[in-house]
Amino acid sequence: MLIDNHGRKINYLRLAVTDRCNLRCFYCMPEDGLNWLSRKELMTYEEMLQSCTLLVKMGIEKIRITGGEPFVRKDIMQLLTGLSELPGLKELTITTNGVLTAPFVPELKKIGVSSVNLSLDTLDANRFFTITKRDEFGKVVGTMEELLKHGIEVKINAVVMDGKNTQDIIPLVELTKELPVSVRFIEEMPFNGEGHVYEGLKWDYIRILDEIKTKYPSIEKLPDPAYSTSYNYHIPGHHGSIGIIAAYSRTFCGTCNRIRITPQGSLKTCLYDNGVLNIKDLMRSGISENDLQAKLLDVFNHRAKDGWEAEKNRNVNDPAHESMATIGG
Ligand code: 5AD
Ligand code: SF4
Repeated sequence: MLIDNHGRKINYLRLAVTDRCNLRCFYCMPEDGLNWLSRKELMTYEEMLQSCTLLVKMGIEKIRITGGEPFVRKDIMQLLTGLSELPGLKELTITTNGVLTAPFVPELKKIGVSSVNLSLDTLDANRFFTITKRDEFGKVVGTMEELLKHGIEVKINAVVMDGKNTQDIIPLVELTKELPVSVRFIEEMPFNGEGHVYEGLKWDYIRILDEIKTKYPSIEKLPDPAYSTSYNYHIPGHHGSIGIIAAYSRTFCGTCNRIRITPQGSLKTCLYDNGVLNIKDLMRSGISENDLQAKLLDVFNHRAKDGWEAEKNRNVNDPAHESMATIGG
């Protein structure tokens, strides 16, 4: 079991497989994209599998594949299948924007992917276009239907943006009436690759809940599972549930069980740090597994206590230069 210097168990890895994406979400990257990483800057699938094998041996039990958009990377099923076969790994999940995902759903089911997070900030096709700059709303909805048809758990991630989609909060909540989905509202974070200037947070988790209560005063609090980053709720009579993620307010750091590997192989022990170790570089320099393990244990022993401390220790001060696509949402 992996325990950090603050007594927190680490058992969850978020692995970002590419920085590239086929959408241009306002809160994530500028319309003309990012300065994409070159192929040799990216971790290879072999390097990913090798580091995951080691991390699972050390105590990681759950891996989530993120990006960028995982399905724009070639042969992604090859990596997913390899990971699904790792002895000791209990859960393999994916975060996707759902544009290219539908045709892969049967295979995802077959290799045992249990849950998929779908990024969907609005149920209005026009606003979808305004937010993502691409006309792909129909494909995303198609992916949601395909996932539900195959009995894969669906969580919908909606970033709440002042002046952009707050009118979608209630319709998204209404989706939980008939469908067994979990709709999770996420506070907007400053990692937008300089897509826009970030002026502080207008919609925090409290305001989001207040907005839901205007229409659904009977909303009930659910117990939050251990290590949950969301406050969870249910509306009586609805099939699905609601979550609110205080990603900016950082209320969940005290039980944080997660680490991240960026597409370029940088290990982050907090979303708000800017990388504590580059696994890819170490592997390419020929480090032995024992030495890599020792280095990993060392950084797990020097984790920032919370996202505020990690942010303070960054050597690049402005998080807006970074995109969630290179961090791994
Ligand atoms: N703030 C909050 N969430 C973000 N995501 C991407 N950028 C941001 C941001 N600036 C989330 C999206 C997506 C996941 C990959 O990361 O909701 O679901
Ligand atoms: Fe792509 Fe996800 Fe970023 Fe949107 S939030 S641009 S879908 S990586």
